[in-house]
Amino acid sequence: MQKVIAIDGPSASGKGTIAARVAHALGWDYLDSGALYRLTALHAQNQQVAWQDEQAVADLAAHLPVAFSGSQILLAGNDVSQSIRSEQIGMGASAIAALPLVRQALLQRQRDFLGERGLVADGRDMGSVVFPQAALKIFLTATPQIRAERRAKQLNIATQSPEFERILADIMARDENDRRRSVAPLRQLPDARLLDTTHLTIEQAVQQVLDWFQSLC
Ligand code: C5P
Repeated sequence: MQKVIAIDGPSASGKGTIAARVAHALGWDYLDSGALYRLTALHAQNQQVAWQDEQAVADLAAHLPVAFSGSQILLAGNDVSQSIRSEQIGMGASAIAALPLVRQALLQRQRDFLGERGLVADGRDMGSVVFPQAALKIFLTATPQIRAERRAKQLNIATQSPEFERILADIMARDENDRRRSVAPLRQLPDARLLDTTHLTIEQAVQQVLDWFQSLC
């Protein structure tokens, strides 16, 4: 059994916020694995490497010039904490994440985040591939409409706008990509607990994860 809480689920389900807070409450480290896929997509774009070029993108992923400094994420020395969050880079991340060589290149890097303290890791395949021996596995989700509303709120976009419709369409397209791919598809594992946050506050969701974890101890 690994000292890991693996939280998988679709985009904009609140995984990042919830996982980071659980990690903070337990005094554990936190891995945002989606950031590594986003960084790889941005790095490829900056290097003018096509997202479809599997070998070239995998080579970039294997030597990603990234540094994490507090809440800042530096790529080749530039702060990209905001720019990797765009929907465009999200779609790029989803595209390159379907390539087996890219996933392979990022595998050990993700495992290296597990130290003495314990790790809360969020993504799509934390429980299935990266940390299959995790002490607790959670599949965290919410309806696409609610996820789009949460994303729109973060970006200060009205829900009655064409931009909102675009966000909703992007979220659904990304879900479809992530579910249909043949390598590490997004799905709830038989040994993962389902946490539907559609009607939960962040605090309630965090508490549920902590309660489940305490019940194992
Ligand atoms: O979680 P986030 O939305 O930041 O992830 C961006 C994209 O990276 C996802 O749409 C997914 O395709 C990919 N991803 C993945 N496996 C992970 C984390 C993210 O395939 N463990």
